[in-house]
Amino acid sequence: MDRVDGRLKVTGAAKYSAEMPAANMSYAVIAQSTVANGRITKIDTRNAHAVPGVIEILTHENAPKLPVPNVGRVLSLLQDTLVRYNGQPIALVIADTLEHATEAANRVKATYSSTKPVLEMKASDAYAPSQARGSKPDSLKGNVIAGLAKADVRVEHTYSTPFENHNPMEPHSTVVVPDGDKLTVYDATQYVIGDRDTIAKTFGLPPENVRLVSYFTGGGFGSKGSVWSHVPLAAMAARVVQRPVKLVLSRRQMFGPVGGRPETEQKVALGATRDGTLTAIRHESMSHTSRFEDFLEPAAMQTRILYESPNIETKHRLVKLDVGTPTYQRAPGHATGTYALESALDELAVALDMDPLALRLKNYAEKDPDSGHPWSSKSLRECYRVASEKFGWSKRIAKPGSMRDGNVMIGYGMATATYPTNRQKATAIVYLTEQSGKPHALVQTATQEIGTGTYTVMTQVAAAALGLPVEQVRFELGDSRMPPSPVSGGSMTAASTGSAVNDVCKEARRQLDAQVASGKSLAANPLTVTLDSAPGAERQQYSMHSFGAVFAEVRVDRDLGEIRVPRIVSAYGAGRILNAKLAHSQLVGGVVWGVGMALEEETIVDRRTGRYLNADLAEYHVPVNADIGQLDVSFVEEDDKFVNPIGVKGIGEIGITGVAAALANAVYNATGVRVRDLPITLDKVFVAKKGIA
Ligand code: MOS
Repeated sequence: MDRVDGRLKVTGAAKYSAEMPAANMSYAVIAQSTVANGRITKIDTRNAHAVPGVIEILTHENAPKLPVPNVGRVLSLLQDTLVRYNGQPIALVIADTLEHATEAANRVKATYSSTKPVLEMKASDAYAPSQARGSKPDSLKGNVIAGLAKADVRVEHTYSTPFENHNPMEPHSTVVVPDGDKLTVYDATQYVIGDRDTIAKTFGLPPENVRLVSYFTGGGFGSKGSVWSHVPLAAMAARVVQRPVKLVLSRRQMFGPVGGRPETEQKVALGATRDGTLTAIRHESMSHTSRFEDFLEPAAMQTRILYESPNIETKHRLVKLDVGTPTYQRAPGHATGTYALESALDELAVALDMDPLALRLKNYAEKDPDSGHPWSSKSLRECYRVASEKFGWSKRIAKPGSMRDGNVMIGYGMATATYPTNRQKATAIVYLTEQSGKPHALVQTATQEIGTGTYTVMTQVAAAALGLPVEQVRFELGDSRMPPSPVSGGSMTAASTGSAVNDVCKEARRQLDAQVASGKSLAANPLTVTLDSAPGAERQQYSMHSFGAVFAEVRVDRDLGEIRVPRIVSAYGAGRILNAKLAHSQLVGGVVWGVGMALEEETIVDRRTGRYLNADLAEYHVPVNADIGQLDVSFVEEDDKFVNPIGVKGIGEIGITGVAAALANAVYNATGVRVRDLPITLDKVFVAKKGIA
């Protein structure tokens, strides 16, 4: 089925938050700090006020004092003189045009007292976080030291991944329309209800006084999963000037005040007997957070469950830096963690002189190695088989530099992909009426369309559960007046909201059938049904994850070190696939981002000032079409009876996992150069290339 919103999108009729019209609109622009820590000693807005059209300039000196300045998160809402990171909002200009507001924001002048910021991760500063995604930050099964001692072959290396920033097509944008003590907020968000609640609490308003609307979000990837400072600031501005305010972050402002993927340093140790049996696995990850909040990139999580071994140890540590708080970025933990773990597996395969795929099959986990629970379903073996056959893995020559095409060195690499199956409680409502003599369903829940196809798959799920053609079903989302749905994060919208839509539609169908049986017509007796759907005891009985296999070919120029990726073949077992076309698109997008992560992406932080040096899309490189060769994505369909009522596992994030390792392993196979520090840029391959045959 094609996207139900496809026509709206290609004709430009789909309205994103910044496009929501309001009469008498004003424009807000944030002025940002230019130091990484300390205090504002003086703020001068006189020159800024001289710009024509300026309506108001809010700073810590005149901003309204908030009843609850920090609702869960520590935001920068002009409440004091404290500066915690470079790029922190220190003033907000509201003017009649975007141009006037921008010019005035540039003229806001602050002086500071600040000290030398800490901007480099040091192990001596590391500490254990209180938790890792609801689990303990450390895990230990067996005795890793004894397991390593027993091994015939050991590898131990440190892998690092850089600061990265989300760059969805749509930057963060908010329009706030005030009406006395009520607010209507149009926001680019992954979490309508969470956004509504944060704004209401921040201003001490009852939640029903805030209506949060988000019909389309132009990509989120974690950046729009929680509320950043600009959202309450836009609401504050609208309350002060008592007219609609539009606040859109510039591309440059997407680097700094709104999170990004933290830098990681990961030490992986593996031990194996001669036949490749893993005697021990240890994965220690250190990542940065801000001075004022703990955010953890849980990079060692997949290592607890991916391979069988009697001895497995994982650790997560944090280091505080004088930067903005980092955040969730597509497959947080698993994207960075699979790079380290799956690179280490490849290094072990080299040390054992064993095929990397055979090594993984040798240590295949038939049940969850951490909890001991059975898998709800797992078809990783089939994924390996399907993808390796399509790829032609058997033609690979293990010795680096063996495969050549003139001056180009060819390499094959592979890795495992994985992501957990999450689910949270959701509520949906269905209104059944008769239209033109036929039943018609309107289904609603306050979930989000972040580009993934929520409108479409929810229409399909509802139609199937109601036993109606899709033409007789309309699905609506994105309004906090609708029943609540969870954040569109953790790849769980289909599992959570999809289950609620399924359950409420099944119940509506049951009630409709009963009504028809008793001789009552739908025309005279329309039906309204609402219900909750939540995970149950099954989550304590089964281990629930998606798995996949990624095979990549690289071509490396012998003289220049330039890396090209002619093809990537991958296969995934991710439960029931609701819409083959959309699912394929999701996974292709994930793999493309994996290529970017492997070869291009890096936010360069000035380690003296905490400023981002490449804060635009000219210098922060992401793949373009010319960087992407053939992508072959397939699914091994699973009939999972345990995950949730509709048998889906979630596909938003697994696509990026494993890709960076598959490419790093392919680069090694091509050149004999092992790059343990992302991104794998040509200088690293070229400089290290000395000594290759
Ligand atoms: Mo995703 S990084 O959980 O939005």
